[in-house]
Amino acid sequence: MDSIISTVDNEHWRQQRQHLIEAFMPLSSLAKIMPVSLARAKECSERLREMAEKGPVDMSNFLLHEAQAQLQLALLGVPEEIMEETNAGIRQTFMLSPDAKIGHLSEAMKGLMKLAREDASVALPSDGCPVRGPLSRALQTGHFASSTDYGNLLLILFAGHDTTGHTMTWLLFELARHPEIQQQVQEEVDHFFASLCGRDPSYQDLSGFDLLDRCITETLRLWPAVANGTFRQLQFGEDLKGVGGQVQLPKGTFVTVTNWCRHRNPELWGADADTFNPWRDFSQQELVRVGCPMAARTPQSARFSPFAHNPRSCLGKNFAQMEMRLILSYILGQFSFSLAPPI
Ligand code: HEM
Repeated sequence: MDSIISTVDNEHWRQQRQHLIEAFMPLSSLAKIMPVSLARAKECSERLREMAEKGPVDMSNFLLHEAQAQLQLALLGVPEEIMEETNAGIRQTFMLSPDAKIGHLSEAMKGLMKLAREDASVALPSDGCPVRGPLSRALQTGHFASSTDYGNLLLILFAGHDTTGHTMTWLLFELARHPEIQQQVQEEVDHFFASLCGRDPSYQDLSGFDLLDRCITETLRLWPAVANGTFRQLQFGEDLKGVGGQVQLPKGTFVTVTNWCRHRNPELWGADADTFNPWRDFSQQELVRVGCPMAARTPQSARFSPFAHNPRSCLGKNFAQMEMRLILSYILGQFSFSLAPPI
C-alpha cells in the first residue's frame, strides 16, 4: 500500500507525516492521553501478579500484549472490551503463529477502521476537547485515500506494538542477567514514586528518571528492535569511502543503514560494545529522555539510530518512550525478574 512507511513518493510521505504527527506531540497529545496509559500500566502490574502466582511468566508475550493494549486504548481510544477481543489474534496473525485464526486480522481491522472513522467522541489535541484516541481522529480528518488509511492503521498496529514490546523484553532480560543493575533501577523507581507523595505521575514527572533512561537507551543500542531498517533509494549519486577505496553509488541505488553492526562496533563504542552497560558515555544526542525540553527529538548520531535518522525517523517514538517508562516503572516497582530455567 502507500502508507507512510511504504510510499516512495516524497510529497505523499510529507503530507501524511505532517498530518499524523499531531497525535504524537508530547504536551498537546501524549500528556493528555497519559492517564489512559497510566491506568493500563497499573492494571498490567495486577495482571502480572495474577499470572506470576501460577508459575513462570512468558514476559515476551506479556509485554507484546501490553504494548498492543496501550496502542489501542490510548492512541486509538478503543474501548477495553474490543481491545481484549482483538489483541491476541492480531498479534498471532502478525507472528504467523499456528494459533492464528484465518480472518481475525481483517475482522479486527474492519472494526477498528469503523471506530477510527466514525466515532465522533475522539478528539485531536487542537480541538480543545478532552483527548481520546488522537490517532483515530487523525485518520478521520486526513482526507487520504481509504487504502492509505487502511495501510497506516495496519502498519501502526504492527510497528507500534512489536518494537516496543520487544525492547521492554530485552531490557528485562538484561536486568535479569544483571541483578545488581536491576536493584539500582528498582531503587530509582521507589524514589520516583516516593517523590510524588501518593499522587499519580504527570508526563513531565517522567523526566525524573536517569538510570531507567540509560537502561532503555542501552537496550535500544544492544538489541535494536529494527536491526536493519527498510531500504532508502538514493536521489543523487554518492561517492563513499569504502573498504579498500572510494565507492561510487549511482542515483537510484537501494541502500540501508544497518543498526545492528554499528550499534555493536567496538571501534565506535569501545571494547565492551557487546556488554549491557547503561553508564556508557552516551552523548546528549543519543540519550533518550522524556518530559523535559528537547526530549522529543530523535535520538541519533553517526553510530546510533534505533528510530532511524531524521526526517524519515520513527513517528511513534515519543509514545513508545512514554509507555515504556510507565509499564516498566510499575512492574519494576513491584516485581524482581530472574531468568526461568531452560524448558
Ligand atoms: C521502541 C520502539 C520503537 C522502535 C525501536 C521503532 C523503530 C522504528 C524505525 C527504525 C523506523 C524506521 C523504519 C524505516 O523506515 O526503515 C520506524 C518507523 C515508524 N514507526 Fe517506529 N519504532 C518504535 C515504536 C513505534 C510506535 C509505538 C509506533 C506507533 C504508535 C511507531 C510507528 C512508526 C511509523 C508510523 C513509522 C514510519 C514513519 C515514516 O516513514 O515517516 N513506531 N520505527
